[in-house]
Amino acid sequence: MRISVKFLAPHSVVLFCATATVGAALILGAPPAYAQSTAPFAAPALVPQSAEPSNAQLASPQIERRVNDLLKQMTLEEKLGQLVQYNDAGYEAAPDNGQLAPGKNPEARNRVDAMQLAASGHMGSMLNTVGKDHTNAFQHAAVEKSRLHIPLLFGADILHGYRTVYPIPLGLAATFDPDLVVSLSRLSAEEATTAGIRWFYSPMVDISRDPRWGRTQEGAGEDAYLGAAMARAYIRGYQGDDLSNPSSVAASVKHFAAYGAAEAGREYNTTDMSLSRLQQFYLPPYKAAAAAGAATFMSAFNALNGVPSTASAFLLQDVLRDSWRFNGFVVSDYTAVMELRNHGIARDAATAASKALFAGVDVDMMSHYYDAELPALVKSGRVPLSVIDESVRRVLRVKFALGLFEHPYAEGAEVTAAVAEHRPLVRKAAEESLVLLRNQPIDGKPLLPLAKTAAHIALIGPLSDAGSEMIGAWGGPEKNPDTVTVKDALEARARETGGSVDYERGTEIAGDSESGFAAAVEAARKADVVVLALGESSEMSGEAGSRSNLDLPGNQEKLLEAVAATGRPIVLLVFSGRPLVLGWAAQHIPAIVEAWFPGTEAGSAIADVLYGDVVPSGKLPMSFPRNVGQEPLYYNQFPTGRPTWITEVTPPQGPDPRFVSKYIDVPNDALFPFGFGLSYTQFAYSNVALSATSLPLRDAQRNDGRRLITATATVKNTGDRAATEIVQCYIRNLGASLEQPVRSLEGFTRVSLAPGESKQVSFDLGFAELSFYNNAGTAVIEPTHYTVWIGGSSLATEHADFEIAP
Ligand code: BGC
Repeated sequence: MRISVKFLAPHSVVLFCATATVGAALILGAPPAYAQSTAPFAAPALVPQSAEPSNAQLASPQIERRVNDLLKQMTLEEKLGQLVQYNDAGYEAAPDNGQLAPGKNPEARNRVDAMQLAASGHMGSMLNTVGKDHTNAFQHAAVEKSRLHIPLLFGADILHGYRTVYPIPLGLAATFDPDLVVSLSRLSAEEATTAGIRWFYSPMVDISRDPRWGRTQEGAGEDAYLGAAMARAYIRGYQGDDLSNPSSVAASVKHFAAYGAAEAGREYNTTDMSLSRLQQFYLPPYKAAAAAGAATFMSAFNALNGVPSTASAFLLQDVLRDSWRFNGFVVSDYTAVMELRNHGIARDAATAASKALFAGVDVDMMSHYYDAELPALVKSGRVPLSVIDESVRRVLRVKFALGLFEHPYAEGAEVTAAVAEHRPLVRKAAEESLVLLRNQPIDGKPLLPLAKTAAHIALIGPLSDAGSEMIGAWGGPEKNPDTVTVKDALEARARETGGSVDYERGTEIAGDSESGFAAAVEAARKADVVVLALGESSEMSGEAGSRSNLDLPGNQEKLLEAVAATGRPIVLLVFSGRPLVLGWAAQHIPAIVEAWFPGTEAGSAIADVLYGDVVPSGKLPMSFPRNVGQEPLYYNQFPTGRPTWITEVTPPQGPDPRFVSKYIDVPNDALFPFGFGLSYTQFAYSNVALSATSLPLRDAQRNDGRRLITATATVKNTGDRAATEIVQCYIRNLGASLEQPVRSLEGFTRVSLAPGESKQVSFDLGFAELSFYNNAGTAVIEPTHYTVWIGGSSLATEHADFEIAP
């Protein structure tokens, strides 16, 4: 885990263009002069999406009574204490960039004494402070020594497992298995709560269409529908039915909003987009998480349309609270309140603090601006106490709902290592996350699965025996020593079957020395089959892990080519936190498996798939480009006036005219498209049909959750292996007032089929699936023509059509 030193990189200055309405002003009457602002969009009137608050538990009258009783007794300093969050490490070295208010940022200048703050009731929560002894020590100070005995809330970045680690979220998205994500999330909550953690900074639901952005690995990829399904699953798993269950954790949905659209994939960079794009392609996962009852949200680092998210009342008030009826609390991202100065919209700490607070940021993570600045702002009347009170209420509601006042301490046996009983589920997740990208015949038979009988394997590459890499950038609180590597697992198999494994590292992940090449090539020459484990280190993605190249780092591609020159059959395992450019491999290497970072059971899952104990079923949650210049590359692009082909997801057909929307040096399409993944069997699709060919517009517009039309198809396993297929449903809408994507995922399901077996699958499509957002911020259905495809990837060809009749 990172208890990190944070460097405050100077940001480029952006012009202040703030929000449609100033959130706190709605509660308070007239906002202060500096909070007045212009709208980033043409003043959208966002309609409330529900009559009820998003989380019923937080709205309970009993909790409200307790909150109000407590609030009455609190001093201003105690109230502000609930709104600040510290770690217990502080900065090792604060950059003296002139942006810190001298003497006003205690941690940066003098180091905060978090224990003293806990004991005096001047701190409400802590981040990345983990371990039973550690959290309990701070909790004892807060509960036993502070005047009002308000417990602390401990939050941590647990994104894909605590000690028993499962695949990175991008890998989990490749499973298209939300039920599995519910179970895994529950499992990590059960483990982490034994160490006192009751709040996860997860799920990360930022849509990313550009793999240069390193945080791509933390989310579900490029698609809003898949992202929303995963977002709901994480919340259900973390929070369960009852937050007060001691093994439930409050989720923090991050990073609100549109952080994944960072220009050029550069970390922390600006985002800028139309309201329709924001609502249709970026907001759905956050909205789904809010609707699933997420207890907290985290405001993002990035500016959206010129307004830093951490100062955006449009996002935090108009969208989140007014439209989605979110009733939890909002925490800023790490020092994001202070960074409003770097964004250029606040010239001093007081303005930064008040802009964030007025916009709707309840808790200041690590900036130390709320506690330093708000007392004077309240005393001078620039910030009304009622605004502070409302934020404190939101924090206390979550603490009461979690049952922290009754059970403040971590109790029972602490989980400090991977849990044996949790390994099977984590292994299943890793198996389901693997995506078979290529499987060419060798001597008339696909290379995979490998024969189970004895074979001599050359295992080559810097990721063959790299336990700490397998668990990804956020893999638990420290690099987990319990991981099964590829080498461990293949050697164990070889012992069982009488085969052998000859391991050569070959090169480093990012090195340029070729000193290991000769031994690797020699090992390959002697082998029946070569397994090459190549890719990125876990630190090459994740926060601040943007890359401008998407190739195999260092000289790994050269190693691959040298080994391939032996002519031996090669299985390439690719470990990465993002889609990579695999063009050469896709032409020369017979079998390729995208493995992401699979977690504690990495090696076991990979061996299961290589040997065919498990048939791969994963499908890509992001398009894999042919070269980096195609980025951002995503399947649900808009049409152009000069298309190369009607759907624009396939390469140009027939003559190739010049004046169409294309590159002169590379096809438009992905090397491996969204939704794609091979199996050890084949599936055939037929009989795509719809329950109606026409729907009256007035029925379709009702938006009451009803099914409007059902699409069905027959899927058949035409091969000789039992297997699971991820069946996908895409739609296109032609003739609308705004252009619509060439196709959009609007349904998926996992179907298991015996050899020769057929099943009918069906997808109910309602207002949510068929509507689109206009630029007034409204979801609409118009009298248009729809095409519905059902198939095994975003290139599905079987389809049927219907109309919405005026
Ligand atoms: C990251 C967040 C994380 C927070 C706390 C920030 O730098 O952007 O995702 O939750 O740190 O560690």
